[in-house]
Amino acid sequence: MQVLMGVVEKKYIVLYAEKFELQGEEKHESIMIKVITYGTFDLFHEGHYRLLKRAKALGDYLIVGVTTEAYDKARGKLNVVDSLMIRIENVKKSGFADEIIIEETQGQKVNDIRKFRIDIFAIGSDWTGEFDYLNDYCKVVYLERTKNISSTMLREKNSPIHRIGIIGTGRIAERFIPEAKLVSGVSTQGVYNPHTESAIRFADKWEISAYRELEEFYKAVDIVYVASPHETHYGYIKSALEHGKHVLCEKPMVLKQAQAQELFDLARERNLVLFEGIKTAFCPGFHKLLGFASSGTVGSIRNVEACFTKLEGKETRELTDRVYGGSFIELGSYVMLPILKLLGKDFEEIRFDTIRGEQGLDIFTKVSLKYPSGIATATCGLGVKSEGRLLIAGTKGYIVAEAPWWKTTYFELHYENSSQVEKYSERFLGDGLRYEISDFISTINGNSSSEFKLTREESVTLAGMMEAFMKAEKREGLDMER
Ligand code: CTP
Repeated sequence: MQVLMGVVEKKYIVLYAEKFELQGEEKHESIMIKVITYGTFDLFHEGHYRLLKRAKALGDYLIVGVTTEAYDKARGKLNVVDSLMIRIENVKKSGFADEIIIEETQGQKVNDIRKFRIDIFAIGSDWTGEFDYLNDYCKVVYLERTKNISSTMLREKNSPIHRIGIIGTGRIAERFIPEAKLVSGVSTQGVYNPHTESAIRFADKWEISAYRELEEFYKAVDIVYVASPHETHYGYIKSALEHGKHVLCEKPMVLKQAQAQELFDLARERNLVLFEGIKTAFCPGFHKLLGFASSGTVGSIRNVEACFTKLEGKETRELTDRVYGGSFIELGSYVMLPILKLLGKDFEEIRFDTIRGEQGLDIFTKVSLKYPSGIATATCGLGVKSEGRLLIAGTKGYIVAEAPWWKTTYFELHYENSSQVEKYSERFLGDGLRYEISDFISTINGNSSSEFKLTREESVTLAGMMEAFMKAEKREGLDMER
């Protein structure tokens, strides 16, 4: 009772009363008030400092949860500048945290609150109402946010806004604009299409500028997103690089290995960033899956099977363009990606088996690859439907991700003992282009930590495969005729 009276003197009388009620008077030993707060704490600033100071003052012991990069990406917070280690170090330096933990998943807060026997959950007032559900577990306190400062503001101040120009006005360009809006540090400036009317229509719809002349377009932008027909990629990338622009190009970037090599060399020479936009490579779930596969969880990888089919109408460009249409040119980049990532680029044999549609184009293609210690098959189809899945077989078990594995949100690890199944999930937001745009922008801003997600060598190898396919299909000469 004496302890209780002592506590009554303190400002958190209500909270203590609740605590005693919950736990019974015998448990007085745990009267230390534990507070928890969470955040990214990127580019640590005064707002963070003041938040931590006030959170600490709410009790006796402060636990700070710092988010991982993968978690931030998955919840749509893109372009975080500082690494996890730096952000932890900065929270530590503030001197307010008694303990620092990592926040890596959604739903972790409830478990942390229970595990650490938390009394108060504190967070800035920008979250008011969002965490009321935690009132079932502890007291929720929203602390007034410090005005006129945020990591977003600092990120924008530290790195100028990059103006993106789009070449092409097709479906993918339509999807790009709303996704780019979610990435900090970029703004879509305008569009170029040699068919001026299409450019004007597109520009009106998205409230951007339309450019009639390529030279004018280059003058107005810092970055070029190439979303034009496949056969025009090489020319546009080259001229954009020659005009000193960074380039993000839709897949397949080019259809000849030598061209890919030449463009990457040119970019390197000019100190510019060139990215092939295969969105799967940058999506958080796929990245997580590769992490498991590459770290020996299912042993050494011996077989990879990837399948992606998407039925297209007979009159679409994909099924009528005799040179650049067909399943492999359209979907091959996706199905080859996990194979290249896991078994590498040094395959010994490659074979293409195709089923042709009325126009003579491949409506279904199976690529078989032989490696020194593994095999792989990549299957894609625009006119034949199959089960889209990614299967990675290793010496200890296998990983399986069902369709749409190319927008990975869920996968399972299986072992010899069939009851041993590990399940993993990750978020994939919107159209997913935001992840590649964000990695592209970070690379331009000097943070090269995303480059490994799709290396130059992998892109060059992919171009080589496209070339081998064109050769096998005898389309090679045809592209010259156009
Ligand atoms: N915070 C605050 N005052 C600010 C900025 C942040 O009190 N001016 C608080 C947030 O409400 C949160 C914690 O600090 O409780 C960590 O926030 P975080 O999201 O890492 O910082 P922001 O600056 O809000 O980051 P961003 O701009 O990326 O959203």
